[in-house]
Amino acid sequence: RLLKSGPPIRSCSRSPPNSTKAFPGPRKGYDVNQKFHAPKGVAEYVPPDSAGFLAVKSALSRSAELAGYSYVELPIFEDTNLYVRGVGESTDVVSKEMYTFDDRGGRSLSLRPEGTAGVVRAVVEHNLDRAGLPIKLWYAGPFFRAERPQQGRYRQFNQVGVEALGSEDPALDAEVIAIAAEGFQRLGLKGFRLLLNSLGDTATRVHYREILTSFLANLDLDPETTKRAQLNPLRVLDDKRPQVQAMLVDAPLMRDVLSDSAREHHEAVCTYLRELKVDFSDAPRLVRGLDYYTRTTFEFVHDGLGAQSAIGGGGRYDGLMSDLGGQELSGIGYGLGVDRTLLACAAEGLEVTSGQRCQVFLVPLGQPAKLRLFGIAAQLRDHGVSVDLAFDDRSLKGSMRAADRTGAKLAVILGDDDLAAQTAAVKNLSTGDQQTVAIAELAETIQEML
Ligand code: HAM
Repeated sequence: RLLKSGPPIRSCSRSPPNSTKAFPGPRKGYDVNQKFHAPKGVAEYVPPDSAGFLAVKSALSRSAELAGYSYVELPIFEDTNLYVRGVGESTDVVSKEMYTFDDRGGRSLSLRPEGTAGVVRAVVEHNLDRAGLPIKLWYAGPFFRAERPQQGRYRQFNQVGVEALGSEDPALDAEVIAIAAEGFQRLGLKGFRLLLNSLGDTATRVHYREILTSFLANLDLDPETTKRAQLNPLRVLDDKRPQVQAMLVDAPLMRDVLSDSAREHHEAVCTYLRELKVDFSDAPRLVRGLDYYTRTTFEFVHDGLGAQSAIGGGGRYDGLMSDLGGQELSGIGYGLGVDRTLLACAAEGLEVTSGQRCQVFLVPLGQPAKLRLFGIAAQLRDHGVSVDLAFDDRSLKGSMRAADRTGAKLAVILGDDDLAAQTAAVKNLSTGDQQTVAIAELAETIQEML
């Protein structure tokens, strides 16, 4: 149905789409000499680095596809309340880092700071939970957090993520973790570690909150942290300041008060992970920056990245779907940071791209040869060979320099005499060997030579 009619588009009768109410619009006037730069703190990729970015994104996506996850493409902005309710009002992500704006209809929207709330919203909205469970979905794209930019921490960054909803089986927790690890391994990464914790179920959390609140009440915390301790004590454990961490050394651990069922779940996840040969370290102090987590939580860290060492993280969320108006189904998922994974590959000296823009470069010498090579380019591309050709009627020398820059393996050179003889010269750009090939056999010969 969707394919025939296109995706549903919401209209709102409250205000006309061209109303400018409450929308500031572009700033009036501009400096004609202004130089434009990308906004502060965004990660952008241009050749040759962009090829590495794509390679990382597709390696991380591939493991989700191979595990039977279906792709979702979701909006980049959502109702601000989705994140307030889903991710948590007192989290840094929601209270300090969201890009929030009013649209022309006066609705408060936010650029997505993370993917889980949007996926769960889409599952509820499209009744995806009426089909077989668990529902397994994957996504990839940009996310936005107004953080203080530094190496590995950007205001627009990229994640590949999965969410599996509707099963409480600890084997699913282990599978989700294993496919994340498999994505990193697919790239050849070695220096990453998996940290695993359980944040307990709802019953555990109520009890733990009480004992943690009374522990924090006896500490000499600054006024803002004291307020946070009352609002959301678990957040204080995530405070990165060394002086706060020093005070937390003796803080009670969730691990010590886990309910029997949360403990059994955690132990089963550990058993499955060992079975799957996924190495992990027990991390009873691991807390995450988003409020929806319950039970299994995990983070992948890479030791070559300095302060921003988390290359991915995730966990289980028992109450999120019902908080967002759906049925009580638990979910589990992860978000892997594409930008940081690319940095991790660089830190390990891994070549994540071939460095090759095309396989074959075509060099026409004269107009008739150029026309003929256009046809040959199309024919080779039909056979799945990547092809580029020299434009602007360059000299042979200039064209060969251009061929070298693309990293192509072969160059095909065609001049008037070759055309008359219905042959072309095929040059191996790494060895310098050249041979004459009949044009009729070009596609076949080139495929063999590649
Ligand atoms: P998260 O831990 O906030 O989790 O983000 C996941 C990953 O995104 C991080 O480990 C990191 O690699 C990358 N990342 C986050 N912020 C930045 C940034 N400012 N710059 C560069 N990379 C960044 C989530 O977002 C959850 N939605 C994951 C999840 C899915 N949990 C359950 N399902």
